[in-house]
This record gives sequence, structure tokens and C-alpha cells, in this order.
Amino acid sequence: MLTFKTSKEIRAYFKSRSKSIGLVPTMGALHSGHLSLAKKACAENDYVVISVYVNPTQFNHKIDLESYPSNINSDKVLLDPYSDQIIFYTPDHKDLYPGKIQSKSYNFGSITAHMEGLFRPGHFDGVATVVEALFKNIQPKKAYFGEKDFQQLQMIKNLNAQKKMNVTIVSCPIVRENDGLAMSSRNLLLSPEQRKAAPVIYATLQTLNKKNLKSDVSLMNRFFKKQVEQHCLKVEYFFVASINDLIPVSKLELNKKYRFFVAVFAGKTRLIDTIELDRI
Ligand code: PAJ
Repeated sequence: MLTFKTSKEIRAYFKSRSKSIGLVPTMGALHSGHLSLAKKACAENDYVVISVYVNPTQFNHKIDLESYPSNINSDKVLLDPYSDQIIFYTPDHKDLYPGKIQSKSYNFGSITAHMEGLFRPGHFDGVATVVEALFKNIQPKKAYFGEKDFQQLQMIKNLNAQKKMNVTIVSCPIVRENDGLAMSSRNLLLSPEQRKAAPVIYATLQTLNKKNLKSDVSLMNRFFKKQVEQHCLKVEYFFVASINDLIPVSKLELNKKYRFFVAVFAGKTRLIDTIELDRI
């Protein structure tokens, strides 16, 4: 597997090769969710750049940044089956932030106004800054993002259009553990008790999707909180938002598409999940 630390080396490598490049941006501590993106990217491109960079500007709390898990060696082992196609890119700060390590500011309208945008101020400016830099430096044909971070995915589609970067954004479904917990690098930080409790998040979303509570969002919200907080978990938010504009609603309308968006704390570890609602 080729490993580069600078985008300059990547560009030099591709200069004399007319090959299609896919990009999978990550913050490392890779798991099967990330691997599903890598696998899809390998099937659709000649080469795939997997970037591993824990981006400081998208973290709201120093402690969250400092405790973010990292294991470059096991990341490489996981990617080994795709080593012929993969370029492992581990930039340092200077490669992505030539000047100060700070976010640019963007306007994504309603897409980033709620949910993660509201509860993690500045988060999406940080993500957009690093993704814009990655797109400009690597110039991929396609880039792969997970629906686990559905709001991030919509924001990146908007960023790509606003900046006319001409990258095809490919969305990939959420990969879950056998018990339903959405895979996340942060799951490594859960205590055994928290890990045991965490599947209730997805289980409750599924129950709500089946239950006949679907027209009244405040009832759904109460049900979610009651179920989830029976365990050692604390709900930060529960929203139902329309898929197109990501604006939360209090009542569902017929024939419109919605998703649940939730954030839950297990101690200091923050877990998010989202599923699409079956039509009412
Ligand atoms: P990270 O959390 O490492 O996730 C990298 C990519 O993997 C994202 O597109 C995310 O949605 C996807 N992903 C994570 N868990 C997944 C799962 N269980 N199933 C499917 N896809 C999953 O998201 C980021 O990093 C950063 O914000 C980044 C885009 C790299 C910018 O710093």
C-alpha cells in the first residue's frame, strides 16, 4: 500500500497516470463502516485515496479532540485487502491548513441550521474547510460519504455545488453492529455497561417507525427519551426532519420523506444515529 504524507506527493504520483481517483475522507480508527466506503470506492475507481486526519477545527471541545481514538497501524491492516488500489494519505496540519488552523465560514442555509449544526456550533464550518481542502488538493472524480452523518453528507453535496468542484458525491448506507448500534470510531470509548445499553437507540427508532405514533412528533420524542434514558444514556436531541431541507417538523405530512435524527450521550461519549421513516 502506498503511503503519502502530502498531497504534493499524491499529485506527482498521478501526474503521468491517467487514472480515476476516488477519495474517502476519514478521521481514522477505521471500522467496517469506513471499509464499506473504501470497498465501494475501489469498485468504482482505479485508485482510492483514504485520508486519515483528525481535523481539529470540527471539534467543539478540546477533550473530545484529545480523546478521539487513533490507530494508524490497525487502520492499515484493515485496508490491506485493497492495498493494490489504495493510497493511504496521512497529512499533517500544514498540508490541509497552509496558514492558521482555523475554519472558513460558509452558508449552507437550512441544511446546517439544526441538529448537529445547532448543537455543535462551528462544526460544519470545520468539516467544510477540510473537505474543500481535500477536494482541491486531491481532485478526485468521486468522493464517498456515509449516511451515518446524513447532515454532513447533504452539506458536502451543497459545498461541492457552491464551489463548483465537480466531484461526484457518493452516499453509502449505515453499517451497524449485529445488535444494531451504528458503527462509529467513538464506540471504542464506551464502557462495557454503556456498550451494552447503546443498541437501545436504534431499537427505539425502529419501534417508533412501526408504532402508530407517527403523526405527533412530541409523543415520539417522549417515547424515545423514556426508552433510551431507562439505561445509562442521556438524550441530547431527537428530531424528525424532512429529507430535502433538513428542517425539523412537529407534524408529518402525507407523502413527504422524513428521517429521525438523534444524539445521545453515554457518559462523555456522544453517539448519533438516523433512519428514514416509512411513509405514513
Ligand atoms: P469519520 O467519522 O471518520 O467518518 C468518515 C466517513 O465514514 C464519513 O463519511 C462517515 O459518514 C462514514 N461512516 C462512519 N461511520 C459509518 C457507518 N457506521 N456506516 C457508514 N458510513 C460510516 O466524518 C468524518 O470522519 C469527518 O467529518 C470527515 C468527513 C473525514 C471530515 O473531517
